[in-house]
Amino acid sequence: MDPIKCIEEYDNKIKRVLITEKEIQDAIKKAGKEISDSYDGRPILLVSILKGAFVFMADLCRAITVPCEIGFMCAKSYFSGTVSTGVVKITLDLDQDISKYHVIIVEDIIDTGRTLNDVVDMLKTRNPISLRVVTLLDKPSRRLVDFKADISLFTIPDHFVIGYGLDCGEKYRNLPYIAEYGE
Ligand code: IMP
Ligand code: MG
Repeated sequence: MDPIKCIEEYDNKIKRVLITEKEIQDAIKKAGKEISDSYDGRPILLVSILKGAFVFMADLCRAITVPCEIGFMCAKSYFSGTVSTGVVKITLDLDQDISKYHVIIVEDIIDTGRTLNDVVDMLKTRNPISLRVVTLLDKPSRRLVDFKADISLFTIPDHFVIGYGLDCGEKYRNLPYIAEYGE
């Protein structure tokens, strides 16, 4: 395709900004303080679910002012576009023994709840000292399994969103804000 048309098409899909960069950073500061206050002096392992949560993880860990370690897992439920396949696959696992840690799962968005439900069930079998979930975004109206995060920074309506780590077809992850995706 003509490169100009390609850029136009890319930009046109960014329908409107839902959450600004400043709103995200303010909420992360608050969550970072809450985590620092409640876990101070305890061994914390932040577990980011790739790829979507990589940007949130980078900012959240820097808003935490007490010692913490980080780990990554890759769980895939959306393989292309905006349609969930309903299949959750762990394609990269942790290399830490989590039984020595208070584990905090760091997720970008909870939609149907299937991904985190599966990840939490799996991690519980490894006996962490405690296990909590912090999510940047929550779309409670879309839930298919009963799942609630311990800390949720923003509740959003049923829109497909992009930016700040979230993608559509692997694009838009580098936008510094959360936007609605659409025609
Ligand atoms: P769930 O298993 O349906 O809760 O989906 C969780 C995963 O689907 C998230 O970690 C995202 O990677 C992806 N996802 C769900 N909703 C959106 C969205 O609006 N935009 C981008 N990715 C999404
Ligand atoms: Mg994700």
